[in-house]
Amino acid sequence: MTIAISGATGQLGRLIVAKLKNKVAAADIVALVRTPAKAADLGVAARAADYAKPETLASALAGVDTLLLISSSEIGQRAVQHANVIAAAKSASVKRIVYTSLLHADTSPLSLADEHRGTEADLKASDVPFTILRNGWYTENYTGSIGGALAGGAFIGSAGQGRIASAARADYADAAVVALTGSGHVGKTYELAGDVSYTLADLAAEISRQTGKAIPYKNLPEAEYAKILVGFGLPEGFAKAIASWDTGASQGALFDDKRQLSALIGRATTPLSAVVADALAALG
Ligand SMILES: NC(=O)c1ccc[n+]([C@@H]2O[C@H](COP(=O)([O-])OP(=O)(O)OC[C@H]3O[C@@H](n4cnc5c(N)ncnc54)[C@H](OP(=O)(O)O)[C@@H]3O)[C@@H](O)[C@H]2O)c1
Repeated sequence: MTIAISGATGQLGRLIVAKLKNKVAAADIVALVRTPAKAADLGVAARAADYAKPETLASALAGVDTLLLISSSEIGQRAVQHANVIAAAKSASVKRIVYTSLLHADTSPLSLADEHRGTEADLKASDVPFTILRNGWYTENYTGSIGGALAGGAFIGSAGQGRIASAARADYADAAVVALTGSGHVGKTYELAGDVSYTLADLAAEISRQTGKAIPYKNLPEAEYAKILVGFGLPEGFAKAIASWDTGASQGALFDDKRQLSALIGRATTPLSAVVADALAALG
């Protein structure tokens, strides 16, 4: 039983490989990566695979029983890239594809959702058995901005009073391991989100509590927030996208209260306070 993890040198992929090694023999895991040299520390075999280069995918998928297709980080290219992987997996007689999609991908107003909808449709049309993990926001997306908030004296965003049911990458990694190694997941679509939702004002209050500094949440119009992100050095298109996702959050796009993630992994999701503490520890 060979399990292949694509995107294995990414942040989520690395966590999944490490957790999967606790469940199955390392010899049964294959990392599919663009740059095998970057995978040397994973402790499993690495094969070269680029979603954008179909010619790399057939050999990468040979003998693979179950594939975890971690969605590409190349926004705008992803529908085609994922279609390449699904076609190659079908040709290689892969028995199941587990795909990391987006929370409520079928109805989500986020600009990210279109590509995920396309890939979910391709998966269903492929006749390869599948499991869809509709991952919600990573809490780390927001805690990654704590350093900037401390430097600027406020946590900024455009999410208003929107409630965010994010979870730690490690929670989604555990869910992927369950979906890859457990039974009963064929044909299932899971909406994965954190147990406890919060607003960005709640996050700012938690940062204030843990640092002893007053860090208020400052809500900004989307265009103003995007402009500030450009000032921080982000490319304009990406800055606008991030600001638009916050507007989506203000409308509930990152909220879910069904607790399917904790049900799947058999434990509560990581509390916001713990992810904030990790981020502060990393800042030193
Ligand atoms: N739920 C959320 O909040 C959220 C947030 C950000 C991203 N995401 C999605 O979740 C995915 C995993 O998250 P992450 O934090 O692990 O992201 P990440 O650290 O940026 O990792 C992305 C992975 O995708 C791989 N990749 C990109 N283009 C590829 C291609 N053409 N062929 C093969 N591999 C390719 C990268 O390979 P290299 O190591 O070679 O660069 C990397 O391993 C992201 O790619 C994105 O689709 C979700």
